[in-house]
Amino acid sequence: MNIVLIGFMGAGKTTVGRMLADRLGYAFVDMDEEIERATGLSVNRIFETCGEAAFRERETALTARLAGRDRQVVSCGGGWALNPGNVARMEDSSKLVYLKASPDTILRRTGGDSSRPLLNVSNREDRVVSLLGTRAPVYLSVADLVVDTDDITPEQVSEKILEEAEKWAP
Ligand code: S3P
Repeated sequence: MNIVLIGFMGAGKTTVGRMLADRLGYAFVDMDEEIERATGLSVNRIFETCGEAAFRERETALTARLAGRDRQVVSCGGGWALNPGNVARMEDSSKLVYLKASPDTILRRTGGDSSRPLLNVSNREDRVVSLLGTRAPVYLSVADLVVDTDDITPEQVSEKILEEAEKWAP
């Protein structure tokens, strides 16, 4: 079994993913980091020079590779779950965990960080509210488990997932 962390930018997927992988003894894959390593370019740079569509193709190609593996925690970029093909590739071998966060939490956690091209806009709050409005229903519809991360630490988020993981892979 794999655990796939989905949710909006700033939800804590990378931090929690690392912790979970460590606790479970699973491999950890952060999709953005993997794409950056493979291309030698930052996500910002890929969006700038090749466009978002090229980044999405990379995400999908990486998903195809990960789908054949087992015992990994995968932290996806915030747009990954919006492509039904990505979800379909992973869902048989994985549990999808939606790390939920409110716009306020997202703005707080991503503030001062310019590494996310979709948030490098003049009105970040409007962008977060509108993107989350369309994405949240999708995250919810594909998730096996939803963890609200607003008022708890990454350690507590990991604990909640670990409790469920025992039922999934005792
Ligand atoms: C994106 C989220 C980012 C990264 C890219 C696009 C998105 O990942 O994949 O900037 O569409 O929400 P994080 O969710 O890890 O920030």
